[in-house]
Amino acid sequence: MVRLILTEDYEALCRSGADFLAGVIAAKPDAAVVFPTGETPMGIYRELAERLRRGEIDATRLRVFQLDEYLGIPPDDHRSLFRWMESALISPLGIPMTNVVRLSVNSSDPEAACQAYDEAVRAVGGLDLSVLGLGPNGHLGFNEPPSKPDSTTRVVELTEESIYSNARYWGARDRVPRRAITAGMDVLLSARQVLLVVSGEHKRDILHRALEGPVTPDVPASYLQLVPDVTVLADRVAWGPERVR
Ligand code: F6R
Repeated sequence: MVRLILTEDYEALCRSGADFLAGVIAAKPDAAVVFPTGETPMGIYRELAERLRRGEIDATRLRVFQLDEYLGIPPDDHRSLFRWMESALISPLGIPMTNVVRLSVNSSDPEAACQAYDEAVRAVGGLDLSVLGLGPNGHLGFNEPPSKPDSTTRVVELTEESIYSNARYWGARDRVPRRAITAGMDVLLSARQVLLVVSGEHKRDILHRALEGPVTPDVPASYLQLVPDVTVLADRVAWGPERVR
C-alpha cells in the first residue's frame, strides 16, 4: 500500500523525511537501510545532521547499504556516488565505515561483486528500509527502464536520459560513465519499508505515472504500487496543486 505525504515545500519535505528516519532509528537503532544520493534527499540529510548536533538522534548504529555507483571509476574519485554519500550522510551522522556496505565497482569481477552485495543484504535478514529518489525516467537507483521487479544487483548501461541528467556532475555528457552497478529491484522492493522522496515540478509527470499508471518494467518505480509498505513523501509542486488523489 502506498501512503502519500504531501508537504507545502521542500523545507517541510526535509523535516518530514527526517522525522520518518528518526522514527526508524528510534524503533531499530541498527536498521539496515539503503540510502540514495541525488539532489532530493540532501536537505533531509542536513536536517538529520542538525538533529544529531542537537543530541536528538543517534544514527551511529545504522547499517548503511550503498544504492548505486558508476562502474570502473577510481575509489577516491570525488564524483563517485560513494564519496557523495560519505560527505552528505555517513560522515555527518558519524556512521562508522564498518557499518557500511559499499558496491565494489573496481573489482575485476563485477558480477561477483554484485552477488557479494546481495549476499550481504541476505546476511542481515533483508533491508529494513529502502530510501529512494525518483529518476526522471522512473528509475530507482540505476534500475533503468526496462527493469523487472525480480532483477538482482547487477551491472547496467545508463540510459541517455540518466546520462543527460547526471552530466551536471561531470561537466559534460561525454564524461559521464556509461555503466554502473545498481542494487537490484528485488533488494529494494523487498525491504520491509520503502520511503520514496520526490521534489519539484519536473517530477510531476513521472510521479503520477509511477503511482497511478500501469505497473510496467518501462517505469520501474511503478512496481512500488505492489509493495506492502511504501511512503511517498512529495512536495506540493511535485504532486501538483490541483490534483487530489
Ligand atoms: C541516486 C540514485 C538516483 C536518484 C534519482 C533522483 O543514488 O540512485 O536514482 O535518486 O535519479 O535524483 P534527484 O534526487 O537528483 O532528482
